[in-house]
Formats: sequence, structure tokens, C-alpha cells
Amino acid sequence: MTRHFLRDDDLTQAEQTAILDLAEQIKADRWGRKPLAGPQTVAVIFDKSSTRTRVSFAVGIADLGGVPLIISTANSQLGGKETASDTARVLERQVAAIVWRTYAQSGLVEMAADTTVPVINALSDEFHPCQLLADLLTIREHKGTLAGLTLAFLGDGADNMVHSYLLAGATAGMHVRIACPADYMPDERIVSDADAIAVQTGGSVTIYTDPLEAVAGVDVVVTDTWVSMGKEEEKAARVASLSPYKVDADMMALAKPDAIFLHCLPADRGYEVTGEVIDGPQSVIWDEAENRLHAQKALLVWLLEQ
Ligand code: CP
Ligand code: NVA
Repeated sequence: MTRHFLRDDDLTQAEQTAILDLAEQIKADRWGRKPLAGPQTVAVIFDKSSTRTRVSFAVGIADLGGVPLIISTANSQLGGKETASDTARVLERQVAAIVWRTYAQSGLVEMAADTTVPVINALSDEFHPCQLLADLLTIREHKGTLAGLTLAFLGDGADNMVHSYLLAGATAGMHVRIACPADYMPDERIVSDADAIAVQTGGSVTIYTDPLEAVAGVDVVVTDTWVSMGKEEEKAARVASLSPYKVDADMMALAKPDAIFLHCLPADRGYEVTGEVIDGPQSVIWDEAENRLHAQKALLVWLLEQ
């Protein structure tokens, strides 16, 4: 049966580890694998803007011997004019996989239900699972392990990155702390899914409203924009609510002295994180951005082998 990657818990802990191991190998031998030789084409569809995702999938597919076909929904039939299901049935006869950045998760579910090729979520309103593979790879590179580490996310708790940290972090056996105000809480169903995973892996999931309590003694500090794509009109209200969760030098000082800082980027410097932190010695954001390439290549190789 075709495997898809629509949300972080589509992978078991063993599968997640296998993909991270493969990413490490691929990073060490960048052009050593050509599963898309032919060349086969991978469709990479964008309903929203992107720099890192567009570049890392395009470069990664080319590295694997294939051709990336970048499609913007603004000039395609998908998005109002044709259903995800009909689009999937057209694409599957010509491409090896479909990568899609979109709004509602339901579109990805519909696309995956009606196609025989792997569908990969390149960010939805609910999740950003490809980013989490890169983040876990980065944390593992800097800390040597994942299970047992404590990670604190400070900021918009209803953010797609938070949902992915909850599921992917729990899958990896990490202790995931989310600090956010009461009006920006994560989806309760996802917290409960992550809780159930954590029971199996030895990890844990805790939601805080106090950022100082959440960040105390952690190994990894993360944040994301306060204004995700599609939320631009809410900026003033979000800044007012989320300001106490800004990651600045005083906040970082509460984490372990060797804690690392991650941000999926793009960053709104001066809002969710200060320049001092994002450019400081604990920040590993450029490794994190590079690791999108290696992690997604590993994901593609793995999915095509299933
Ligand atoms: N982190 C991330 O997905 O960046 P882009 O929006 O630039 O793709
Ligand atoms: N939460 C952000 C992530 C960007 C990569 C957004 O959805 O805009």
C-alpha cells in the first residue's frame, strides 16, 4: 500500500529513526543515491509562499536523479477550479510523488486517498512534518540523541509547528513543553494524540501558560513566527498577546547553558526572537535550514521504497 507523509505521526518511532539515519548517510554522500533516475518527475505544488521548502525539494529531487515540477496553484486548475482528488488522478500517471503546501489538512487527506503515489505535506495550517524531520536531524547532530531531551516551544500554541513538535517530539521520545497564552492553545485532539504516543515512547507533553516555567532547564528552545501565513490581519492582536513569549537573551539564560535554539524560519526578528538570540552562539538555524534538504531526500527515498 502506498505510504504518505501527511502528519508527523504517520511514522512510528522506528520509521522516524530509520529516516533520520538515512538522512545522515545522504548528508555524508550527497549524490550517492539516484532512485529518481530516468529521470522521474516529482510534482511540488504551492498554495502558499515558500523559500526553503521550494529550494530544498527542487534541489533534493534533482540530487536524487529526478526532475522537480514546481506548480503554483495561482496558475494551475487546482484550488477552486478542480478537486484535489481529480488532480491526484491526473498527476499519478506521470509523476513519482506529489509534494503539496496548502491550507486545510483535509485537502491533503483527499489527495492521498485518491492516488497511488506518495503524497507529502509540505506545510498545512495544521502541520509542518517535513520541517520536523529537519529539526530532529539538527537536534540529533548537536546533542547526539533525541529520546529523553526536553524541548520548549514559546509562542503561538495553535501554530502548525507546535502540532508537529507535539507529534514528532513525542514519537522521538522527547519531553515537549509548549508555552502559550490561553487564547493561542494547541488543538486538544493533537495534544491527546501526542500524549498517547508519549506513553509508548517514554516522552511527555506539557502545556504551560508561563514561559519562564516552560523554558527552565531545557535542552532545546524553539519558536516560530507569531503571524503564520493567512493570519496577517491578526498581527496587532497577536503581538499584544504573544509578547511575553519572545525568546530573548534573558529567556535563553533560563535554559541549560548548552541549550540550542531553533527556528524554522522565516523569522520576524524583534518579535518572536531577538537578533541577539537568532544570531547568537546557541542558534543552529542555518544547520536546521540546510537539513531540510537532507531530511526530505531521505523521506523521498524511504517512501519510494515502501
Ligand atoms: N521553514 C519553511 O518551511 O520555510 P519556507 O516557508 O521558506 O518554505
Ligand atoms: N507557522 C509558519 C511556518 C512557516 C514555515 C506559517 O505557517 O506561516
